[in-house]
Amino acid sequence: MAQKKDFLTIAELSPAELSDILELALRLKREWKSGGNPPMLKNKAMAMVFTKPSLRTRMSFEMAMFDLGGKAMYIGPDEVQLGKRESVPDVARVLSRYVDLIMARVFEHQDVVTLAQYASVPVINGLSDHEHPCQALADLLTILERKGSLKGLQLTYLGDANNVANSLVYGAVMLGAHVTVAAPRGYGLWDEVAVHAQRFAVASGGSVTQVEDARAGVESADVLYTDAWYSMGQESEAAKRAAIFPPYQMNRALMDLARPDAIAMHCLPAHRGQEITDDVADSPQSVLWDQAENRLHAQKAVLVKLLVH
Ligand code: CP
Ligand code: NVA
Repeated sequence: MAQKKDFLTIAELSPAELSDILELALRLKREWKSGGNPPMLKNKAMAMVFTKPSLRTRMSFEMAMFDLGGKAMYIGPDEVQLGKRESVPDVARVLSRYVDLIMARVFEHQDVVTLAQYASVPVINGLSDHEHPCQALADLLTILERKGSLKGLQLTYLGDANNVANSLVYGAVMLGAHVTVAAPRGYGLWDEVAVHAQRFAVASGGSVTQVEDARAGVESADVLYTDAWYSMGQESEAAKRAAIFPPYQMNRALMDLARPDAIAMHCLPAHRGQEITDDVADSPQSVLWDQAENRLHAQKAVLVKLLVH
């Protein structure tokens, strides 16, 4: 039997695999827009384990399975209590007896790794503290649609170099973009992420740079990206971070430093008035809603790759 595949991190994909998923996503999107997708996942079932809240991830995965003829079942934070009511390996073993695939949103990245290790079915990372790979696929798809290619593009990420940033940086650099992360001291890319990204840059001709001055990072940007200043699980740091991050706010003044055709991106949910202002989020440069929609198409591609190919 062929070894099962998981989707836990962008870093483990080759550039060819990444491009392949994005191409399939574009094809599935076109197909969906012109009448619908065939039931490629008929009789396939997915368990969606959430230890944190979600709008996009839950809805887009559920709709992706629905559109492809499969079924998705939601398990919320109070039900499974991953690692508390039941050990992570036991949850993996049990779910593997019911479903064809497990998608999980967890706190510690190790939990998706353990799920994948003990599950006999593929596991998808629906967000961990290290990565948000499904979000990165949707983001790359959105950039491809708007800019045609990642090669040589200047992408600047503003704010906390978090899970979303890690996956985005990996993917964008792998496809040849020049990525700048503008973050306050202590909130930049983790060392291990910077090392991996640098390795991808050498192979692709892209680059990864870190700066503290947000304005310097924005000049000549084709793509500006931001996310919340504090992530789920870091709520107690909200006040402390609110005092540190304002220079990295994606606002009109900063946006105007970038190229006139620059696009503004945010994975959502947005804290309007903090990391992004209304005059950017609701401007013609904003691609926020395309990013949210593209979760659907990108995840369909992942589901098909893991369950059909
Ligand atoms: N962007 C994203 O993952 O949104 P949710 O937290 O609503 O799923
Ligand atoms: N960095 C955010 C992303 C939410 C989709 C978090 O982890 O809360």
